[in-house]
Amino acid sequence: MIRIDSVTKRYPDGTVAVDRLSLEIPDRSITVLVGPSGCGKTTTLRMINRMVEPSEGTILLDGEDIQRRPVTTLRRSMGYVIQNAGLFQHRTILDNIATVPRVLGWGKQKARARAAELMERVGLDAALAKRYPYQLSGGQQQRVGVARALAADPPVLLMDEPFSAVDPVVRKGLQDELLRIQDELGKTIVFVTHDIDEAIKLGTMVAVMREGGHLAQYAPPAELLSDPADAFVEDFLGADRGIRRLSFFPSAELPLSTGPVIPVDASAEQIAAPDEPWLLVTDADGKPLGWGERRDLTAGDIRTGRLVAHGRPFVPGTDSLRAALDCAVLSPSGHAVAVDGTGRVTGVVSQATIGEAIRSAHAGGHADEAKAAS
Ligand SMILES: Nc1ncnc2c1ncn2[C@@H]1O[C@H](COP(=O)(O)OP(=O)(O)OP(=O)(O)O)[C@@H](O)[C@H]1O
Ligand SMILES: [Mg+2]
Repeated sequence: MIRIDSVTKRYPDGTVAVDRLSLEIPDRSITVLVGPSGCGKTTTLRMINRMVEPSEGTILLDGEDIQRRPVTTLRRSMGYVIQNAGLFQHRTILDNIATVPRVLGWGKQKARARAAELMERVGLDAALAKRYPYQLSGGQQQRVGVARALAADPPVLLMDEPFSAVDPVVRKGLQDELLRIQDELGKTIVFVTHDIDEAIKLGTMVAVMREGGHLAQYAPPAELLSDPADAFVEDFLGADRGIRRLSFFPSAELPLSTGPVIPVDASAEQIAAPDEPWLLVTDADGKPLGWGERRDLTAGDIRTGRLVAHGRPFVPGTDSLRAALDCAVLSPSGHAVAVDGTGRVTGVVSQATIGEAIRSAHAGGHADEAKAAS
């Protein structure tokens, strides 16, 4: 565990970049430092690997003051990733990734083999190994940066706005990749960003910092969304806080109804039976075809081309209440369609029922720690 204990950084010109900051950074999870520009995020990160020395206070790594560790030993236990990757322009991708193992004295072949393994791990095509950084896209360069930081298998990864310079689509891919890698490798990651959505998506714990290097709140993301400490945090979280919080509640418990679900070859009785104006028609395989109004449906002659699109269904157990609510809001019938992993309909659920589930989830208070996918 990394423990930041009442740390202050005053630069020589008198600027207080970090003011009596205390944080416990848990092992094998992602801790995000988020806040507006100039609030002291980079300074905090750099004090952890001693690129910046604190003016006051101590930082402990596994109980030991980092001041007692030789800087080189300390830094070897901490991979460092920055915005725009900071790659060596005159070295190939493979040699960029092999940098730290080479410094540590590994043979060229072993270091390159390790680099090749890491390229695969971060989702880079092996064909890129011999290219130079300028021959890669920004997103690919950022992946190289992550691979390079992981090369010597350090337990700690420090990441300073690593995904800020790429477009939103590439960024989402990099975030998903980081979560996947983290699942596999279980590093202790300290991640800096000024993007609150990125913080909420990636963080197990999120430290919201404010101007002057003050800690405004330190909490799991679901708690930030439900109980912002003050107006600054609330404002920083932005709009839709309530809706976004639903990402942390699972949809598995939603009661599903198969009442309004009918097969495409439904009989007149099957069409007449449900007490609903809209019916979901499924194909022979049980997959959804679309919604039809009962009065437009004729037994033996359901015109699938005239059904209204059912939109994106949700998968209970995988998707969150937010995803289920989104499906219901977009559905012409006001019902969300639930499917299993193979895409077969398992039932539908109304906006009203989802509303009840939301109220009882809030009353229960505790969002799903495992973070359902939004
Ligand atoms: N070497 C330095 N000398 C003097 N002041 C500095 C130095 N480095 C940073 N600062 C100041 O310390 C404060 C915190 O800077 P820091 O780089 O930690 O902020 P940040 O939160 O990372 O900002 P950004 O989101 O813009 O990267 C700022 O006011 C900055 O101007
Ligand atoms: Mg910074």
